[in-house]
Amino acid sequence: MSDKPLLVTCGLPYTNGPCHIGHLRTYVPADFYVRYMRRVGEKVVFICGSDNHGTPIVISAEQEGLSPRELSERYHEHFDRTFQQMRVAFDRFGMTDDVTNHRMTQSIVQRLIDSGYVYAQTISQSYCPDCSRFLPDRYVEGICPYCGAIARGDECDQGCGQHLEPGEIKDAICKVCGAKAEYRDQEHYFFRLSGFRDSLLAYLPRLKGTSNARNYAIGWVKEALHDWCITRTLDWGVPFPGRDDLVVYVWVDAPIGYISFTKEWAERAGEDWKEYWCGDNRVTHFIGGDIIYHHCIFWPALLEGAGYGRPHAVVASGMLMIEDKKFSKSRGYVVWTNEDYLDQGLPADYLRYYLLAYTSHTKELNFSWHILQERVNNELVNTLGNFIYRTLHFAEKAFSGVPDRSADPAILEEIERSLAAVDQAMREYDFKNAVDSMMALAAFGNTYIQNNAPWKVIKSDPDAAGQIIRNCLQIVKALALVTEPVMPDAAQRVWEMLGHADGVGAHLIGEATTPLTPRPLPTPAPLFAKLDDDKIQELEGVLARRVEEAKSRAADAAKTVPFDTFASLDIRIGRILSAAPIPGSKKLYKLQIDIGDGQRQVVAGIAGFYTPEELAGKDVAIVVNLEPAKIFGVESRGMILAAGDEASLLAPARPVKPGTRVR
Ligand code: MF3
Ligand code: ZN
Repeated sequence: MSDKPLLVTCGLPYTNGPCHIGHLRTYVPADFYVRYMRRVGEKVVFICGSDNHGTPIVISAEQEGLSPRELSERYHEHFDRTFQQMRVAFDRFGMTDDVTNHRMTQSIVQRLIDSGYVYAQTISQSYCPDCSRFLPDRYVEGICPYCGAIARGDECDQGCGQHLEPGEIKDAICKVCGAKAEYRDQEHYFFRLSGFRDSLLAYLPRLKGTSNARNYAIGWVKEALHDWCITRTLDWGVPFPGRDDLVVYVWVDAPIGYISFTKEWAERAGEDWKEYWCGDNRVTHFIGGDIIYHHCIFWPALLEGAGYGRPHAVVASGMLMIEDKKFSKSRGYVVWTNEDYLDQGLPADYLRYYLLAYTSHTKELNFSWHILQERVNNELVNTLGNFIYRTLHFAEKAFSGVPDRSADPAILEEIERSLAAVDQAMREYDFKNAVDSMMALAAFGNTYIQNNAPWKVIKSDPDAAGQIIRNCLQIVKALALVTEPVMPDAAQRVWEMLGHADGVGAHLIGEATTPLTPRPLPTPAPLFAKLDDDKIQELEGVLARRVEEAKSRAADAAKTVPFDTFASLDIRIGRILSAAPIPGSKKLYKLQIDIGDGQRQVVAGIAGFYTPEELAGKDVAIVVNLEPAKIFGVESRGMILAAGDEASLLAPARPVKPGTRVR
């Protein structure tokens, strides 16, 4: 392993919507990893920022009546604040639209051009004749050329997941105005990704991180590598060198943001950013499982082409479910970090614990309010919190503090074993196992204090009770140190209840087995509070209502029909030849109608409003391709159109021949 410092990054959030629990599924584990590596003595730089470019932001800004920059600043601040509240503590949280990144992107793109990795090519691209503009990426929707699913312009997001190049999407529709897109030729620039096959196949098997990232990437490279178009016709983004009508594709300047933000951090810290990005490095990217392609294929190729070192590790998190349903903002299966969680007064620690401990990092994680309640109440309150409180309470009450003794070797060994298990799991990016091992130490402590009952022993043997509680205090110390990366706030409280005035984060986990100096202890307070049923039901209600609202919105939207559906109706003007009552029915007539190329029998409920004589010879609108039906035993093949309760028949305003199509 290189002796360089670790550089950890998180996928950059787009600045067009608030932070949700899906974001946290990546950021919390990254922060956990960073804190842990620091607690074991590594130097770590933790970098993130907001992703300001690309069409989704332009479209959202248009909708909100803001400039893309204004929208970006608004959400940038939102994410920055929310991460701080969640105790996700970046050393630098930059913006991809800031000048550092504009310059860095242009210089890297220029290097790629100079080294022959970029070439110009004319492509036919979707263009909206009504809006008079090209339609990059999410400005269009259409059909995926690979699997036939409905797809966005840049990605088959609901079908096969393929990345789509400009112009590839079929039957494109303008997302802004709904018009059918045309295809027009325009010169664009391509990155020669296909030329990196061999070097990627040599690099990827050695890429550290989670196996899902490595394995998917190797599979995709073996399948095929297509060159990527790296320019877009948009006036929001980093201008492409030498062309004022094109900007760089967002997936170029966003990852370059990782470098730019490192540079911004380094300038303040008096360090050299190149040390982190050149040659052999320890860059570790934490990302969502949906952007593996970008980070394991495109980005390393770009870095190599520009002469930088490639990432050391990619850690990809699995997908998120909300109450067993696929996470979906549009369908209401979402938990907003602020509105639904922090603003409800819930502690960051609980959610951090859940996200880390509930499911392995690479697996699908289900978030459920009642499972959160269960885990918090059983594990944090009843096991960890209970053990720590009982220990501190008894030490303070019976011994006025830490008794002057050393912990038993067996206890120190137990702590060492747990810490070793945690460490091994962390080196394997197996965060769930790491947290489980911490909780196993808490469970050990809980059983130990229960079985040894110092509150009983003290009556007959105060010395022995002092030793028991001293052992427990050692475990409490270990827990404060080792759980800090998971639950920084709770760990700090424990640290203070152990009589320390400084931050637990200033200490190494290795101190878990060093002696506790005898000292008075403050009166402890319970570490965690239970989540009660009422609160959980309220939160479940919020989610259920949101899902219902989304359903009724979807139902409203479903009431509109695509043009094709309308066009499939064969409506014509027909001439009524005759009308006759149907025996036994007061409302129905049997009509014979001339529809141009033939005659139709139609049963219509208009007997109360017209006499047969009135109807004969009238021109009416008739749907001729309706499924045949039997009404009152009489065959009906079509439907005449009428308005209102008194069946006012629709007639052409000017004479037309029977059989004329209504459109
Ligand atoms: N904004 C992108 C997303 O949410 C992630 C960008 S990560 C970076 O999918 F690598 F491009 F920076
Ligand atoms: Zn349009």
